[in-house]
Amino acid sequence: MNPVRSFRSLVRFRPIEFRSRTRRLSRAASVDDLRLQAKRRLPRAVFDYIDGGAEDERTLDRNVSGYARVEFRPRILRDVSNVDTSISLFGRSLPTPLILAPTGFTRIADPQGELAVARAAARVGVPYNLSTMGTRSIEEVAAVSDGPKWFQVYAWRDRGLVAELIGRARDAGYEAIMLTVDTAVLGRRERDVRQGTTLPPKIGLSTIVDGVIHPAWTYGLLTNDPITFANVAGRHDLDGSSAITLADYTGSQFDPALSWEEVEWLRSRWDGPIILKGVQTVADAELAVAHGVEGIAISNHGGRQLDDAPPVIELIEPVAQAVAGRSAVIADGGVRRGGDILKALALGADAVMAGRAYLYGLGAAGEAGVDHVLGLLLDGLRRSMALSGCRTIGEIERDLVAWRSDPANVERGGR
Ligand code: FNR
Ligand code: LAC
Repeated sequence: MNPVRSFRSLVRFRPIEFRSRTRRLSRAASVDDLRLQAKRRLPRAVFDYIDGGAEDERTLDRNVSGYARVEFRPRILRDVSNVDTSISLFGRSLPTPLILAPTGFTRIADPQGELAVARAAARVGVPYNLSTMGTRSIEEVAAVSDGPKWFQVYAWRDRGLVAELIGRARDAGYEAIMLTVDTAVLGRRERDVRQGTTLPPKIGLSTIVDGVIHPAWTYGLLTNDPITFANVAGRHDLDGSSAITLADYTGSQFDPALSWEEVEWLRSRWDGPIILKGVQTVADAELAVAHGVEGIAISNHGGRQLDDAPPVIELIEPVAQAVAGRSAVIADGGVRRGGDILKALALGADAVMAGRAYLYGLGAAGEAGVDHVLGLLLDGLRRSMALSGCRTIGEIERDLVAWRSDPANVERGGR
């Protein structure tokens, strides 16, 4: 007897799950609503891995609350009957200034994982950035998405492996490489430490209890292929087929000796745009420009690495001024609303990336949840542009926003 099949026929799980998903989504008015749904639906360790940040999570909080420190100076009577959000980035025209950030282990939120996110992104023409630590491979993602795709690189100690991954990304039609430079060692995510989180999740008593409380997630985990690092499948030392803490994995596999020379090494192997992800000072933005990178992602890894690193929103203007158009500036961290995208652009960003926002959607309702998040963010951007008198991205100017004079009182709900 196949226990999975009998389980399925017994409870007719899929139709029930489908109906409740549709109901859930119709009630999710915001990304924060989806976050709460994901919190209910995912086992605690999985939700905390996604939601959490380093140490006291001050940078994580300030990434998000920082957006509430900026307010609009909306203009009126400008005929906003047609709002156009399109931009040009790295010589390509894109329908919106949004990019989906690379996130590892996406399949722990939903069995389809990166495939679901890539398909949803392609439907609206938003670039999807596959992580080195993806749980679907470069080729699997390319097979389901003809939308713009970028590939994120970590500096493995084994540079041959990096070269191989980049070559595969090129062959599969990925358009840009993003080198993440803020993970010389892994930040201390204390929610994960407390719960003894391993990836993939270890099956112990607490997992079983959690599994019974979260049947939809458990059903997905049990009826799909094991979760591994698909990009290095078959390399048993690397592919995550046995449970390990992320800190141990990163410590043994990633190279803390990474330096500016690697940017040149990467350049010699990749013809297309290179984006440096994890720039956190004006001085490093200047160096990045001097090293000829096409893009700078201002990022503190969503507050998951160095706590008390500066919130992203505060860096946009000084970095954009220093870079002065010599490289594209992408703001990465804390985006939960379309209006946040507009604020980042007004301060000087060329585009923004979002990570957790789409993971909350994926955890709450799978692929349909990612569609829902993209709809919320992109409708939100269009609406905020209309309400503030901007017809095109080119019309978004610095004087559209101002820093609030009472920042100490700014609070953001949700977290
Ligand atoms: C990440 N991030 C990340 N970054 C990266 O370069 N490679 C990776 O594999 C991952 N993995 C990852 C997993 C999870 C669960 C999260 C939440 C984040 C960081 C990510 O690309 C991005 O910088 C942040 O998510 C941006 O902040 P927000 O949008 O989540 O607030
Ligand atoms: C993280 C790694 C995968 O932030 O980058 O969890």
